[in-house]
Amino acid sequence: MDRTPFYITTPIYYVNSVPHLGTAYTTIAADALARYRRMTGHDVFFLTGLDEHGQKVAQAADENGMTPQAWVDSIAPKFQEAWDMLDITYDDFIRTTEPRHERASQKLMQTLKDNGYIYQGHYEGWYCVPDETFYTEEQLVEGTCPGCGRDVQFIREDNWFFKLSAFQDRLLELYHDNPTFVQPDTRRNEVLSFVEGGLRDLSVSRTTFTWGIPLPFDPEHVMYVWFDALINYMTAVGYGSDDPADVARFERFWPADVHFVGKDIIRFHCVIWPAMLMAAGLPVPKQVFAHGFLLTKGEKMSKSKGNAITPASLVERFGVDAYRYYFLRDVQFGSDGSISIESMVQRYNGDLANDWGNLCSRLLNMTEKYCEGVVPARPHAADATSDDDEVRAIAEGLPAAYEAAMSRLDYVSALEGAWSLVKRVNRYIEDSAPWGLAKSEETRPRLDAVLYNALEAVRISALFISPVMPNTSADVWRRLGVSADVREVTDLAAAAGWGGLAPGSQVTKGDALFQRIVEE
Ligand code: MSP
Repeated sequence: MDRTPFYITTPIYYVNSVPHLGTAYTTIAADALARYRRMTGHDVFFLTGLDEHGQKVAQAADENGMTPQAWVDSIAPKFQEAWDMLDITYDDFIRTTEPRHERASQKLMQTLKDNGYIYQGHYEGWYCVPDETFYTEEQLVEGTCPGCGRDVQFIREDNWFFKLSAFQDRLLELYHDNPTFVQPDTRRNEVLSFVEGGLRDLSVSRTTFTWGIPLPFDPEHVMYVWFDALINYMTAVGYGSDDPADVARFERFWPADVHFVGKDIIRFHCVIWPAMLMAAGLPVPKQVFAHGFLLTKGEKMSKSKGNAITPASLVERFGVDAYRYYFLRDVQFGSDGSISIESMVQRYNGDLANDWGNLCSRLLNMTEKYCEGVVPARPHAADATSDDDEVRAIAEGLPAAYEAAMSRLDYVSALEGAWSLVKRVNRYIEDSAPWGLAKSEETRPRLDAVLYNALEAVRISALFISPVMPNTSADVWRRLGVSADVREVTDLAAAAGWGGLAPGSQVTKGDALFQRIVEE
């Protein structure tokens, strides 16, 4: 059976510093979607990587007394290590200094030139190096960058320009015809009003520094870093290569299904990028989804502001799965959200240790104690009580509810859906009191039915929790004696079918999934 392709990207990160909570956030969200889409049978291609050119990276290299290439080579493994630590299942890790990317970027640039959208001009204006963005005098706020508030530099150069202004109508048509091209709606409105205000042509080359990709038709100029960076999304699926396998891959995966980005970089992704593709006669991505900023004490977290906690320190304290859970559960994806150690401890103790971890331990314990650790027989549907039916109905409603949430990248709702089952099963156990049922032979059949239903609901909960917390879910399936690995499910509908848990399987209790954290 041919699986439907599904192409997911994260931004490619600047290698001016090491990965932090902000970059990890985008990457985890993209990974949870990649894992979920694999479960729904898609042929997923999940791309992440590094933006290695530009002045900002060159400056970082200089400050560290290294050549730009040596510097990026020294930082790249730190990103890969961080993503491995966070269990990110990327399919490709692109670096813009790779030959395949130079080839693709030059091909696109040449195509735009051939199509009449690149011309020579003179640029005079301001440039923000940390944001790698051009600004006009009027755009500055008290003489500083309107994006990040830092100092800007004046540049005066002969550059090549891209006729962005020619695309205003076609872009507006795109947003109109495809209302979910930019999501969430607040971002869509922002992009709409920006484009409605008129577009200026964009300077796309630089001559005053050399750390970039030379223009194919004027090698004295290097490409503006954002211009080369955006092209990475096509490079990775084969653009620019004549190899028939690459050509086929590009056909299969382009256009991308979703570009994950932060709200600070939507103009590049929702205005410049589609215009570049239109100018080249190529299809535009299906969606750009912008998430908000993680804030600490009301301020954007960033390395330069010195309020960055490292992902590694949190993973050490809470574990990978809880880390992934916290950021996707506590911050509505698409909005800004405050994060703190206190709220992380709260989520951990409440949702993970109490609701989910305790449910698993109690149930496995009781199965060991009352059923010799063996999953009891499937109860007859005819004997089901209204409580049994309710638990089953929630489980059977999960696939549709989860799909609806994930197709909007609403991780909070998706997880709440899974938790509605977890919480209902906790109550089910309280109400049916297996410890009482175990006291007499007469109530033995009811005891078996209750334990089977609860174990089955736990198996299904673990399935839906797995895109966010793959390791604990795999562990829960193992403890339930399920022979498959939850991380390898490719037919979610079948796997989520009620009654899938095999009677007679041997369960194992194991240690607590999440040890309660006592705050110092
Ligand atoms: N290199 C460009 C992207 C090029 S994509 C063709 C870039 N890199 S970046 O490393 O500066 O930032 C990458 C992403 O991290 C952005 O989407 C940004 O929003 C995100 N975050 C950085 N700090 C953040 C927070 N404090 N909170 C959430 N995400 C933020 O931009």
